[in-house]
Amino acid sequence: MSLKVTRMTEADIDGAIDTIHQAFKGDPYNEWVYDHSKFNPKRNRYSLRLRCLWGISHGLFYVCRSSDSPKVLGTAMWMPPTPPSEPQSWSLYFSSWWLYFNQVYMNLTFGRGGLITKRYWIWKAAQAQAQKELWTSKTGYYFCNIVTVLPEAQGKGVGRALMEEVLREADERGIDCYLESSRDVPNVAIYEKFGFELVREMDCDDEGDKIKLYCMIRKPKEEQP
Ligand SMILES: CC(C)(COP(=O)(O)OP(=O)(O)OC[C@H]1O[C@@H](n2cnc3c(N)ncnc32)[C@H](O)[C@@H]1OP(=O)(O)O)[C@@H](O)C(=O)NCCC(=O)NCCS
Repeated sequence: MSLKVTRMTEADIDGAIDTIHQAFKGDPYNEWVYDHSKFNPKRNRYSLRLRCLWGISHGLFYVCRSSDSPKVLGTAMWMPPTPPSEPQSWSLYFSSWWLYFNQVYMNLTFGRGGLITKRYWIWKAAQAQAQKELWTSKTGYYFCNIVTVLPEAQGKGVGRALMEEVLREADERGIDCYLESSRDVPNVAIYEKFGFELVREMDCDDEGDKIKLYCMIRKPKEEQP
């Protein structure tokens, strides 16, 4: 299968969301953060669409297809590195407000769609603490928020093709990469193949009902002489 990775466009968003919905079925974080009896797929699609629209302008959002089909097989959503010393750009500042107001509109229109907000904030706090401890590099980190591949296309190099698009850039610029995996098996082993190392576990504990996430960092590869 010959694979083609391109930057996400608006036309790719529905296909990218399909990969997320299918690949994250049964994902431990998803199971924990949603009350599935109240899950609203329409609200979830709207939320992911907003995130994709935002990411097309401000993130490094990619999709992968095989060269002989228009179907999106996988997607990767990265945030570019920001040195902690650098002030936030005005465009990022305004776009964060754009996202916020659209999310408020979404919540007024659809409700929470099964999202357990208490757990969402437990996760956010655990994530902020982990990143505070781990993000020590002055150059910042390429942060892989999501990488997903349709179940039928997994194990065929789609994940690698998507990851390498950014890993190459990180190597060229000598910058670390970071991700948080919601599964240890098999994901930690898969990410190790890309050069990531497990550096910390992150517990999200809602009065004893808890999940663990796996924080991994990848150092840039030195150029071979
Ligand atoms: C994790 C995921 C993105 C990987 O994508 P993929 O297309 O299946 O992975 P690839 O086929 O490109 O394989 C990447 C490497 O991992 C290895 N690998 C694949 N499956 C593996 C497994 N079950 N155990 C160990 N290694 C594995 C491959 O051999 C390959 O290594 P190589 O290129 O050195 O041979 C994909 O499986 C997925 O979407 N899973 C479900 C959703 C998910 O968990 N996303 C991540 C949330 S943190």
